[in-house]
Amino acid sequence: MIQLSQKPLKINHELPESGRGSYWITTFGCQMNKADSERMAGILEGMGYKEAKAELQADLVLYNTCTIRDNAEQKVYSYLGKQARRKHLSPHLKLIVAGCVAQQEGAALLRRVPELDLVMGPQHANRLETLLNQVDNGHQVVATEESHILEDLTAARRDSKVSAWVNVIYGCNERCTYCVVPSVRGKEQSREPEAIRKEIENLAQKDFKEITLLGQNIDAYGRDLKEISSLQREKISLKDLLTYIHDIDGIERIRFATSHPRYFTDELIQTCAEHSKICEHFHIPFQSGDNEILKRMARGYTIERYKKIIYKIKEVMPEASISADVIVAFPGETEVQFQNTLNIIEEIGFDQVNTAAYSPRPNTPAAKWAGQIQEEVKVERLKRVNQLVAETARVRNKRYEGRVEEVLVEGINPKNREQLMGRTRTNRLTFFPQHSNSYLLYKAGDIVKVKIEEIRSFSLTGTPIN
Ligand code: SAH
Ligand code: SF4
Ligand code: F3S
Repeated sequence: MIQLSQKPLKINHELPESGRGSYWITTFGCQMNKADSERMAGILEGMGYKEAKAELQADLVLYNTCTIRDNAEQKVYSYLGKQARRKHLSPHLKLIVAGCVAQQEGAALLRRVPELDLVMGPQHANRLETLLNQVDNGHQVVATEESHILEDLTAARRDSKVSAWVNVIYGCNERCTYCVVPSVRGKEQSREPEAIRKEIENLAQKDFKEITLLGQNIDAYGRDLKEISSLQREKISLKDLLTYIHDIDGIERIRFATSHPRYFTDELIQTCAEHSKICEHFHIPFQSGDNEILKRMARGYTIERYKKIIYKIKEVMPEASISADVIVAFPGETEVQFQNTLNIIEEIGFDQVNTAAYSPRPNTPAAKWAGQIQEEVKVERLKRVNQLVAETARVRNKRYEGRVEEVLVEGINPKNREQLMGRTRTNRLTFFPQHSNSYLLYKAGDIVKVKIEEIRSFSLTGTPIN
């Protein structure tokens, strides 16, 4: 959430004069972590902490970590080394590791970095205040036990004023053989629909225009609710939730992620088509284009089923954009199997694909399998897939040329302050001049009709039309 400071080392030796002092949060990983960081920032501000101007001046530093691949995990150790040294000069500094590395390593992190005050897994994000109180009482705290995620009463401190993430289901019950998420995020826990609606109503009151419902496997929403709910409720699924929140005044756009092809239904596609606020953009990872690899990944679908979903979406919503995630060089992946992945990218013509080379993760079956692919092959396959993804995205983007798109303005383009930036309904990043003539000015939160004139692989540029 908060950008890293590139400034030279500047150390604040003073104890905070008033209040609690300042905090700094650096977030790694996925949207789930970003949403957690926003809630933790809200808790810290509620406790009296102020946002620090720079990481190396903060009185409290919190790293919200990711361990999806080894390089994500390693990042935090290099950041921690710097802060641990600082703590020897400024003993009042509070040092916290939250998120997925915290959950994976637990007390072992304290042994590795004894300067840490608090190690807290993702299920404990909403308990930050209680945990910090224990730290203030002189304890070094590790909070990684499986826990029921409390409804948070503190307002999140959101980065955007326009677009907000709303967690609807935590955890994941799948067992994809490469993936560390179930072991660090725990079992599925859906939030009550009433609590979700209330959060979105509050966002609408604060002028937010767009929400993205979040879950690692959002199609699983509701399947655990019957058991834990104190209410006698009927079965509720993602499509019911979407229908239930659709009428909230002020919210103009609704998105959701991440979809799982194993559970994605035709009814969900129909619901999206019938509700005008639900944007025609779908993020549905396929992970591999080869059935044998999909089986070994334990994904629970074939590439034929995946294609059927995509073609159904395209039939019902011809303008829809489709993005996905893919892993190359999974253990045992042959050149032919890799080619099957390239083929599917070409056949479907994705708008965007997040690519990664397989990385063995602790406590996952595939990490121990024979047939681990050499580093050079990983690098080479990743390069080839990235080239194809950029080319496919550029070709897909051609359809925007000359068209008028509704762009929800997020703010000023940090790379060109003369431009505003926002997204189309299909989630394409779009830039346009701040004012096309002297009396036209737009601001964050406006929906502007923009005529698209310039196409790149991952963004567009245009001119607003009146
Ligand atoms: N819940 C989502 C994805 C969560 S993790 C889903 O089921 O699709 C985000 C992405 O990281 C995954 O889609 C996958 O492409 C990638 N990923 C997960 N584990 C990985 C690993 N061990 N090596 C490389 N990439 C991985
Ligand atoms: Fe990981 Fe699979 Fe769960 Fe996604 S569905 S988070 S890839 S285990
Ligand atoms: Fe990373 Fe944890 Fe998300 S491992 S991808 S931050 S769920």
